[in-house]
Amino acid sequence: MSAVVMDGKALAAKVKARALAAAGQLERQPGLAVILVGENPASQVYVRGKVKDCADCGIACFDYYLPADTTEEQLLALVAELNDRSDVDGILCQLPLPGHIAEKKVLEAISPDKDVDAFHPYSMGRILRGDPCFLPCTPAGVMELLHEYGIEVAGKKCVVVGRSNIVGKPMALLLLGENGTVTVCHSRTPDLKAECLQADILVAAVGKVNLITADMVKEGAVVIDVAMNRNAEGKLCGDVDYPAVAEKASFITPVPGGVGPMTRAMLMENTLAAAKARQ
Ligand code: GUN
Repeated sequence: MSAVVMDGKALAAKVKARALAAAGQLERQPGLAVILVGENPASQVYVRGKVKDCADCGIACFDYYLPADTTEEQLLALVAELNDRSDVDGILCQLPLPGHIAEKKVLEAISPDKDVDAFHPYSMGRILRGDPCFLPCTPAGVMELLHEYGIEVAGKKCVVVGRSNIVGKPMALLLLGENGTVTVCHSRTPDLKAECLQADILVAAVGKVNLITADMVKEGAVVIDVAMNRNAEGKLCGDVDYPAVAEKASFITPVPGGVGPMTRAMLMENTLAAAKARQ
């Protein structure tokens, strides 16, 4: 079997076009504040992408580039100011933050009604309860891809590899919310291959090149690769050995061009939702 390639770039363009149309219907232009502390090169690329997405979607972007030695107090003061601003509907603080700033404190300072990343404990609690306010962008992007390609989750065995707060845990909850039978695997899982071989839907979100090889994938499985790594040749790749796994899977996401663009598009959807709720 040769898998259908799930085109996240094309679907993200559709989602963004929908966001642009919705933004035009609002009385006030939606606004997203994006904060970057320091000069992490990967974060700089992500933030540039978010600024561009806002422009594409008719969303005002207030971007803040703070030096690496910004204090926690200064960052918290900026978040407090943005919480109070009526022209700011969403606030995103790019992670990771420099080590001297407590990430948890900053994420908890963002007002839940502007928490378009869905990283605040309130947002996470709502996701856990199955009653989300904002959906976490990467897992929501994966669900959107599954829907677009007509892949039913209910009754399927879903295996999520990775248990991060940003992807693995909320991904498991969204799959559970659609009645998948979900297993979460991590670095202490004794037999990762045996677990993965059970999966009808396999989501890899670890950040390790070639973690998922073809012998770990059931014939006809749906394989979603959330990771963004660079291989030994410096080429972008995910966690999945793509060429070999694509021969066994029924559907597969490429890297780049799969989940990444969907993550960005879902942030635009969340910002629109925040703006609608606040108007
Ligand atoms: N760093 C890596 N991914 C993300 C994300 O989705 N949101 C934020 N704020 N930081 C990140």
